[in-house]
Amino acid sequence: MIKAIKEFAYQFLKETKNTPIKVISHHDTDGITSASIITKTLQRLDLEFSLTIVKQLEESVIKELPEGHVILFVDLASNSFNYIKEIKNKVFILDHHEINSEIPENVSIINPHLFNEEEISGAGLAYLFAKEMSEENTDLAYLAIIGMVGDQMDKNIGKIYNQILKDASIEVKKGVTLYPATRPLNKILEYSSDIFIPEVTGSSEGSANFLRDIGIGTINGQYKSIIDLNEEETSKLITAITVHKTDNGSTEDLIGNIFLINFFNRLEDARQISAMVNACSRLGESAVAISFCLQKRSSKEKADSIYTKHKQNIVKALNSLPILKKIENDNYVIINAEDKIKDTLIGTIASIISNSKEYTQGKAIIAMAYNEDKIKVSARMVGKSGRNVRELLNSVIDIVGGEVGGHHAAAGALLQKDKENEFIEELKKKLEIKLVKV
Ligand code: C5P
Ligand code: C5P
Ligand code: ZN
Repeated sequence: MIKAIKEFAYQFLKETKNTPIKVISHHDTDGITSASIITKTLQRLDLEFSLTIVKQLEESVIKELPEGHVILFVDLASNSFNYIKEIKNKVFILDHHEINSEIPENVSIINPHLFNEEEISGAGLAYLFAKEMSEENTDLAYLAIIGMVGDQMDKNIGKIYNQILKDASIEVKKGVTLYPATRPLNKILEYSSDIFIPEVTGSSEGSANFLRDIGIGTINGQYKSIIDLNEEETSKLITAITVHKTDNGSTEDLIGNIFLINFFNRLEDARQISAMVNACSRLGESAVAISFCLQKRSSKEKADSIYTKHKQNIVKALNSLPILKKIENDNYVIINAEDKIKDTLIGTIASIISNSKEYTQGKAIIAMAYNEDKIKVSARMVGKSGRNVRELLNSVIDIVGGEVGGHHAAAGALLQKDKENEFIEELKKKLEIKLVKV
């Protein structure tokens, strides 16, 4: 794949010598970090370009593309070839979503699925492209790691990511993955939305008592952070969380790689940066998100306040879950939020639910929310194994019409609102076909 990126970069430079560039990227953390890397790279090359961030690649986005531009899609487009083949211009794609049709002739694409390569997110590909353009761009490697964490690819680090970690001089630690791992533990326990511990989550006194009971004390009045814990304290913390939390998830899920990044002159947890970038973008402030990624001072305060608001929105959405329409079976749950959760938040909520361990491995979570005259669908597979939710949505959208794409364990779709019932009925039919293991 690295060799193909060399050729891709060469072709890109050739095509853009006298032609302006239009960059299109996706609105989640991986898409925003991808766009930040590309922005800096093209600025350094002194090339003329403009950038648009989209929720998804709908047909209308493609129809509105300017003529006489070279198009560069990042972190999207692998499932939109039917529209892309109509584009008159030369098209370059750096993407990692599953490919579902033949690659059109006007397209040059780098996608790890084509190379039998380790999983690399959009930002990882954007970084490899940037590094090919100039060694100077190795200072953008941290963004590739934030994108990777955003897309939850941080569990199996392969050869390519190991090199990117080296380029970024990022320290990786094993530990409890509640974030930010750099801040006092009492605050993490109090505010964490990743786990729920009765009488601890949401309570400052409860969090302090919890830590006192397991012998994790304060130094100069301040609690240790996760990265300051020694092995014994880490294992005590994990045992205590496992005993107290309400769900049935295994403790292994609580331990993982922690990536510490020097960001705005402070050591920060990549999960925290990723959450903040995601918040800015999903609340419609993608310019702030990109400035924040590129560590522009003026964006810091804005990003902080947007993040606070986003967290409140998430809590509100999670609190509304009990009143939403649900269809549940052994191996799936369909949650129809209608207009009670925003379309831009439904993916985040589906991810939180699938990680919350309220549902067991192999369960498909399908969440739906209205978006004007359309319905946004977000599907997640609990745990790693189970059916391919992208193929699942694909098979239903084939019948009812709409856009669809994503990965084995995380996919999305968009359909017309008047197809709501038909969609649910067809989805149920597909979900009820038992998976036969061969
Ligand atoms: O468009 P993209 O590939 O960047 O997004 C994948 C989305 O799916 C991310 O929002 C990521 O957090 C989510 N995800 C998930 N569970 C997984 C893998 C990804 O919720 N196992
Ligand atoms: O929007 P959501 O977070 O549910 O998306 C899950 C995954 O499916 C992401 O990787 C997203 O890029 C992808 N997706 C897509 N085409 C769509 C909707 C989502 O490729 N129309
Ligand atoms: Zn991505």
